[in-house]
Amino acid sequence: MLTKIKNLFIVLLLVLVITQFLRPEKNEASYTSITTFEDLASVTPDIQSILQNQCYDCHSNTTRYPWYMEVSPVSHWMAYHIDEGKKHFNVSNWEAYTAKQKDHKLEELIEEIEKKKMPLESYTWMHGELPSADAEKLIAWAKEVRAKAKDTLNTKAKDSLQLKVSDTTAIDSTKVALK
Ligand code: HEC
Repeated sequence: MLTKIKNLFIVLLLVLVITQFLRPEKNEASYTSITTFEDLASVTPDIQSILQNQCYDCHSNTTRYPWYMEVSPVSHWMAYHIDEGKKHFNVSNWEAYTAKQKDHKLEELIEEIEKKKMPLESYTWMHGELPSADAEKLIAWAKEVRAKAKDTLNTKAKDSLQLKVSDTTAIDSTKVALK
């Protein structure tokens, strides 16, 4: 029995050693893709540090890699979550999202944080939970960005409406007069 356990242990150890050589591709683009998002979404230094510590690792093209994230199986587990996280919400693609998509992502963000679904529970084992004060800050920020975007859209809609009205009133009668 004891030798069986010993053998099993050796096999497990070998698997662990071998998988260290199967390194998943890293998610390490430059920070500039995030800067665009931060500019467009009025990210303050306060909000930036929360997002950096709790969200960007899975929701941007730039993940930080502390040593334990380089070790299999953590490295594979993390690569999977980065893939999944980016599929749903990637700040590095922020500019490419339509106004409607941006609004929807922010709505989801508020919901996920309110339901305490984000950051993923398994991630908080290593990084600590999102403090409730930070959660509130993120929610307030997201609500403000949504409201501001709505305002901009409304002003744009009004402007184009006014443009149409003035277009129709400024008719040059000499040009439209019937001959
Ligand atoms: C360990 C990786 C990881 C971290 C860290 C993480 N997320 Fe996620 N996130 C995911 C994955 C995977 C999904 C998709 C599956 C799911 O919803 O569980 C997701 C989904 C989401 C969605 C839903 C998008 C949609 O359209 O459905 C939002 C919004 C989100 N995360 C925001 C955040 C925010 C904000 C933080 C930081 C407070 C955060 N996430 C931290 C991995 C992560």
